[in-house]
Amino acid sequence: MANLVTSLCCVVLAAVVVAYAQRRSQLVARNQYERMGSDVTMQCGSLDNDASVSWKVNGTDVKAQHRLEGPRLILTQVNLSHNGLYSCFQNPHGERRDTIFLHIGIPPRELTVNCRSNTYPKGFYCSWHQLHATYIPTTFEVDVQHDQRSLEVQKDSVHKNRCHVLFPEVFSSFPYKVNVTAVNALGKASTTISFEESSIVKPDPPERVTATPIRFNPRRLEVSWHSPSTWPDIDSFPLKYFLRYRPLIREQWQHVWWKLSLDEPPQFVTGPKMVTTQQISESGKHWKTQVELSDSTSHTITDAYAGKEYIIQVAAKDTEIGTWSDWSVAVHATPWIEDPLPITSTTEVDPIETTTSPIPSSNAPQKAEPPVGRAARLLTFFSPLLLGMLLLFM
Ligand SMILES: *[C@@H]1O[C@H](CO)[C@@H](O)[C@H](O)[C@H]1NC(C)=O
Ligand SMILES: *[C@@H]1O[C@H](CO)[C@@H](O)[C@H](O)[C@H]1NC(C)=O
Ligand SMILES: *[C@@H]1O[C@H](CO)[C@@H](O)[C@H](O)[C@H]1NC(C)=O
Repeated sequence: MANLVTSLCCVVLAAVVVAYAQRRSQLVARNQYERMGSDVTMQCGSLDNDASVSWKVNGTDVKAQHRLEGPRLILTQVNLSHNGLYSCFQNPHGERRDTIFLHIGIPPRELTVNCRSNTYPKGFYCSWHQLHATYIPTTFEVDVQHDQRSLEVQKDSVHKNRCHVLFPEVFSSFPYKVNVTAVNALGKASTTISFEESSIVKPDPPERVTATPIRFNPRRLEVSWHSPSTWPDIDSFPLKYFLRYRPLIREQWQHVWWKLSLDEPPQFVTGPKMVTTQQISESGKHWKTQVELSDSTSHTITDAYAGKEYIIQVAAKDTEIGTWSDWSVAVHATPWIEDPLPITSTTEVDPIETTTSPIPSSNAPQKAEPPVGRAARLLTFFSPLLLGMLLLFM
């Protein structure tokens, strides 16, 4: 008797489980991915061809152009406006038989892939992005080959479209081949790039750049910075630096760089360690000063204009290979200025205008004379007055 009851219980339980599973499969939406522009057929569960059903999308009637063929709903030339949750109900009682999440998308197409080493000689990273949106979830597979073997690829924990690779060796002449494949429900596409170790080296910008005025020096600014903290071995793989600065109100930049390499030949030498290049751009206004120094992380600007706010940035590059980093975050500084401010009366003088002489001369240091010259004259003019006032107070 007890046995019979147990068996009965089991049968009932099994029936309940089956019924529940069936019901669930009708309620839980399944995904259907379709190409944009195509004609889409949605099948209501596994109902026979002669079954009669009605469809709803997002709980309301299907308004888009469509056809009904028994248990099938056919949409023509679908686009993103057809996305939605489709449900079908069997007539005449209107039981729900299926639920479909329709996702319209496109197969992946070409990708752009870029690789860069900001941690040379430890490793590099590659990042990629799709030139065309696919509108549906797309994943990426990355394969990196070097000297006929596959290298271990580590996904970035933050950036979805980025991965990291360790250099298997340094100073390798074998090229690296990186193949990124985009995969989604509608297809896949691969892009392969090939490069040499030396071409992808690009440090991060220098850090903690500071610029400070120097007391009693109205033309000077002391600039210092730190090498990028991501660069792992500054002693074995030194960096050179490139500094640019300009008054805030001007478009032109003055450039200074350290450890000049042969691929950036100086054009005019004006002193033992100072090199000046004058570049006349279309507007006739750009000019550069380049100074070669040891691989120091500081520089004193000596040709700033008193009282003018300057904007200063630094870039870094491996001394031998690779490309320049991006510019550091801009810092602002104003050279020391005497109080009260007789020099402010010279602001109508356009300091840059006076330096655009196309003569690539050896007189770089004189360039910035006019404002001070003017100030001096002004001072000379006023000094009897000052003297008079001084006497009056005595
Ligand atoms: C999408 O398709 C519908 C129906 O075919 C059409 O009315 C609508 O203009 C289309 N939308 C776009 C953005 O192409
Ligand atoms: C259904 O709802 C989704 C989400 O709110 C919406 O994006 C989609 O356009 C709707 N589809 C239709 C056909 O109304
Ligand atoms: C890139 O990887 C994909 C997927 O593994 C493969 O089908 C394709 O042939 C590879 N392409 C190249 C050029 O190696």
